[in-house]
Amino acid sequence: MMRLTPISNLMARPSFLPPFMFGLLFATFGVILSAKYSSITVDQSALLALKSHITHDPHNFLATNWSTSTSVCSWIGVTCGSRHHRVTALNLSSMDLTGTISSQLGNLSFLASLDIHQNSFHGTLPIELTNLRRMKYLDFGNNSFNGEIPSWFGCFSKLQRLSLYLNNFVGVIPSTLGNLSKLERLGLGGNQISGRIPNSLFKCKELKFLSLGYNSLDGSIPTEIGNLTLLETLALSNNHFKGEIPLVIGNLTSLRFLYLSNNKLTGEIPLVIGNLTSLRELYLFNNKLTGIISCFFYSPFCY
Ligand SMILES: *[C@@H]1O[C@H](CO)[C@@H](O)[C@H](O)[C@H]1NC(C)=O
Ligand SMILES: *[C@@H]1O[C@H](CO)[C@@H](O)[C@H](O)[C@H]1NC(C)=O
Ligand SMILES: *[C@@H]1O[C@H](CO)[C@@H](O)[C@H](O)[C@H]1NC(C)=O
Ligand SMILES: *[C@@H]1O[C@H](CO)[C@@H](O)[C@H](O)[C@H]1NC(C)=O
Ligand SMILES: *[C@@H]1O[C@H](CO)[C@@H](O)[C@H](O)[C@H]1NC(C)=O
Ligand SMILES: *[C@@H]1O[C@H](CO)[C@@H](O)[C@H](O)[C@H]1NC(C)=O
Ligand SMILES: *[C@@H]1O[C@H](CO)[C@@H](O)[C@H](O)[C@H]1NC(C)=O
Ligand SMILES: *[C@@H]1O[C@H](CO)[C@@H](O)[C@H](O)[C@H]1NC(C)=O
Repeated sequence: MMRLTPISNLMARPSFLPPFMFGLLFATFGVILSAKYSSITVDQSALLALKSHITHDPHNFLATNWSTSTSVCSWIGVTCGSRHHRVTALNLSSMDLTGTISSQLGNLSFLASLDIHQNSFHGTLPIELTNLRRMKYLDFGNNSFNGEIPSWFGCFSKLQRLSLYLNNFVGVIPSTLGNLSKLERLGLGGNQISGRIPNSLFKCKELKFLSLGYNSLDGSIPTEIGNLTLLETLALSNNHFKGEIPLVIGNLTSLRFLYLSNNKLTGEIPLVIGNLTSLRELYLFNNKLTGIISCFFYSPFCY
């Protein structure tokens, strides 16, 4: 912790300084003080608050390492930016940690990447995280978070990756996710999400990876899926999707992995699937589909 000189000691004007000089000195000190206080010490207390919300750290990753006698920038899992010397990334993945996410984490105002996947974090995500406007990469996968997927995720206008797979999220996919115009990867698989895919999601034109499998989603696969022309992975298996596979699927020429198995899809398998030259894996089993896949074009799984 930074030690602050009690302000009363500073108020007594040293006799050798004329009043205007004292004013200048005090103003200068005030600027330094506020710069210091609004910077790395805030990051330190935010991380210490997170540490205090961790109830089990079986490998003692943080217990001794996250010590106030060293700079937060040398703490395990912490990365600081070279320019502002503030915490820009936090990676506590696969540390077997149990705990909750403290609201103070929202004070890490330079944070652009938060990866805590594969731990036992639980509870709900604090709304204070919306302060993290630089956020590009969020991975909360394989934990035990519950509650609804917060609609305020739509505030992270720079977000490129959002991974919430393998948690206990319930409710619907918030339509605000459609505001994430830079989103490239969205992983919501393995939760208890229900309802339809919101149409707004098809505004996320940069999506390459869309994984919604192992939930309770229903409705049809919307034809707007054809708008996501960069899609490489589309995983919708193990849900309650019904209706036909839309023909526009044939427009997704970058598709490599298409998982639609274990749904209630009906009708003919679209012939256009045979034209998807990048396709590497196609799972359609356990539906009520008819027809065959004809290869009009070279596609490795046809041979
Ligand atoms: C904390 O861990 C980091 C990364 O493993 C290491 O470089 C650093 O020396 C450790 N600090 C202490 C005080 O153990
Ligand atoms: C976090 O660390 C793990 C293990 O080292 C690594 O696989 C993962 O890519 C890192 N996450 C980020 C966002 O860099
Ligand atoms: C940090 O966050 C907490 C909770 O969101 C808040 O009460 C506190 O005032 C914030 N600021 C600092 C400097 O810790
Ligand atoms: C989820 O995490 C557990 C350990 O916490 C691990 O054993 C399991 O393999 C992980 N599952 C996936 C799919 O990563
Ligand atoms: C985000 O999305 C919602 C619903 O799609 C919309 O009402 C809202 O205006 C959008 N913009 C912001 C900045 O949240
Ligand atoms: C899909 O793309 C078409 C044509 O570019 C556009 O008119 C439509 O609004 C888009 N739909 C969504 C949901 O973004
Ligand atoms: C799909 O491609 C066809 C021609 O290749 C085009 O006419 C059609 O508008 C495209 N559909 C969408 C939704 O982009
Ligand atoms: C598949 O591609 C071939 C060759 O480009 C084309 O002749 C054929 O019409 C396409 N078939 C479908 C069903 O889109």
